[in-house]
Amino acid sequence: MINRKLVIEYIDYFSVDEMEPADRELVAAAIDAQKGSYCPYSHFRVGAALRLEDGTIVKGSNQENNAYPAGLCAERTAMFAAGANYPDKAFDTLAIVGSDENGICETPATPCGECRQVMAEYQAKGGRPLKIILVGRNKIQKFSKVDDLLPFIFDSITAGQVF
Ligand code: THU
Repeated sequence: MINRKLVIEYIDYFSVDEMEPADRELVAAAIDAQKGSYCPYSHFRVGAALRLEDGTIVKGSNQENNAYPAGLCAERTAMFAAGANYPDKAFDTLAIVGSDENGICETPATPCGECRQVMAEYQAKGGRPLKIILVGRNKIQKFSKVDDLLPFIFDSITAGQVF
């Protein structure tokens, strides 16, 4: 037997000024996307902005429903909109931000498991790493691939592939 260790690397930024301009623009787009949030039940506004390989930015926000499970997270709203409208464009980077009644959450909002699984699928479909940016009030985290948020991904398309 072998005892193994999994190491996940990511960047913590303490100001958007430390980020490259394209990522700064994406963070601003995710913050702006929160305006479209429909969250009368949770009052938690989530915005997502997805940059495609050609630079196009697709926004999404959480859309809730009185029948709770019918609602959808911001990340999937953005990813499905991009998948539907730009089926041939690989996903490059997804930025996510959440706000409660006090504004942008101090701790960066982290995507739910179902959204991570959907990210993994589109990463495989695009054939390149999908980067993820999690925006908090005083800290922004950047991951260079979905695998870092979802180790041991179930993926029958690219079984065993490592970016
Ligand atoms: N939500 C998202 O939009 N993204 C996440 O990553 C976590 C949760 C939404 C779902 C629901 O509308 C609200 O936040 C509270 O869970």
